[in-house]
Amino acid sequence: WSATARKVEGDLEIGGLPVADLVAEHNTPAYVLDEVDLRTRARAFRDAFEGYDVYYAGKAFLCTTVARWIEEEGLHLDVCSGGELTVAERAGFPMERVGYHGNNKTYPELRRAVTLGVGRIIVDSLDEIERLAQITADLTSTGSITRPVGVMVRVTAGVEAHTHEYIATAHEDQKFGFSIGNGRAFEAVRRVVAAPGLELRGLHSHIGSQIFDTSGFEVAARRVLALHARVHEELGVELPEMDLGGGFGIAYTTQDDPADPPELATEITKIVDHECRALGVAVPHLSIEPGRAIVGPSTCTVYTVGTVKPVELDGGAVRTYVSVDGGMSDNIRTALYDADYSCTLANRDSEAGPVLTRVVGKHCEAGDVVVRDEFLPADVRPGDLVAVPGTGAYCRSMSSNYNHALRPPVISVRDGVARVIVRRETEADLLATDVGDQ
Ligand code: LLP
Repeated sequence: WSATARKVEGDLEIGGLPVADLVAEHNTPAYVLDEVDLRTRARAFRDAFEGYDVYYAGKAFLCTTVARWIEEEGLHLDVCSGGELTVAERAGFPMERVGYHGNNKTYPELRRAVTLGVGRIIVDSLDEIERLAQITADLTSTGSITRPVGVMVRVTAGVEAHTHEYIATAHEDQKFGFSIGNGRAFEAVRRVVAAPGLELRGLHSHIGSQIFDTSGFEVAARRVLALHARVHEELGVELPEMDLGGGFGIAYTTQDDPADPPELATEITKIVDHECRALGVAVPHLSIEPGRAIVGPSTCTVYTVGTVKPVELDGGAVRTYVSVDGGMSDNIRTALYDADYSCTLANRDSEAGPVLTRVVGKHCEAGDVVVRDEFLPADVRPGDLVAVPGTGAYCRSMSSNYNHALRPPVISVRDGVARVIVRRETEADLLATDVGDQ
């Protein structure tokens, strides 16, 4: 649960506001974002990783207001699409503090990023390096840019991160990065160094997401720094920076035990210092890119219960299926990654005993599960509110209009005041792109 969430006689309160009051005004489903929680975590990363640049990974959740908070808290911003860049621009985010990711950035996207003065572009293929070299040559010749563009080369460290296969990114057989092992990363470095419009800042490695064990970072740092040292030795280029990516895990259930930012900072700094000393290279200026660990715990999704149905299981046990008014369109993570969530009854106390419950959505699909296993009071009934914590990261940002669902609003709360920062979609929004009859 987020920092200011508490139960007062069964009523869940966040940011000093009873969730039931929020619902009376804004309806469900809704993402309720605790501003104090998000800002506190952003600040905790910034302070713990003093001397680093901390890029907030906007893919976890981005809107204009959150981009402004991130800016105010002194963080940098990682965007990975033209759309995220547009939000950064609209928020007035200082472009020199923006890093631009992606394995298939288009020519117009890259050209726009360069024109806007994005601080660094993380390149992920030889095609992209060529595209970027062309763009900078072109823009330099017309006088549109006067300085080379900062570039990081994304490398694959060959690490098996212990997380779900879909979100692990440093093993060899996947789409991201240049392999260190087979020399492709070195070749990419050579090409960037040779392009006059590009300024190679350093190497970038992101090993995956929802990681608890820092040994993956250790192996990655060792391999990336070995390449960093080789670049110095063979090309005479001392790379000033290095990025170790994001991926710091958060607690979705009581079984998860994540490290806090000071522990992570101490550990990562120790690893890098140790490797640099062993290799005899200067410690580069470091950056990291946490997304989930900043925004994930800040938000809960509030749903209204619509139906309650007991289902007999093999062996005679019963599971209660509680259907809520959202589902896989506002939280795809359970279906996609087998992710674990918990939930609580948010609008009242109950004396009824706990029963094994599965919270499901209203989509036409059996895999439409929000919380696979939870014990809720046996008297949960239609009209009750159920709140699912830990939905700040990769829920709204991965939401869909499946079954023409309207995407829920994001409502920030702080000091007893609620503010809609992303409004609920309307049917008019849905029909706006359906131009069939016009
Ligand atoms: N940097 C890079 C280059 C990334 O690709 C990512 C995440 C991050 C930073 C931020 O990772 P975080 O600190 O948030 O774990 N949709 C999946 C997660 C995909 C992560 C993609 N890249 C999920 O819902 O678990």
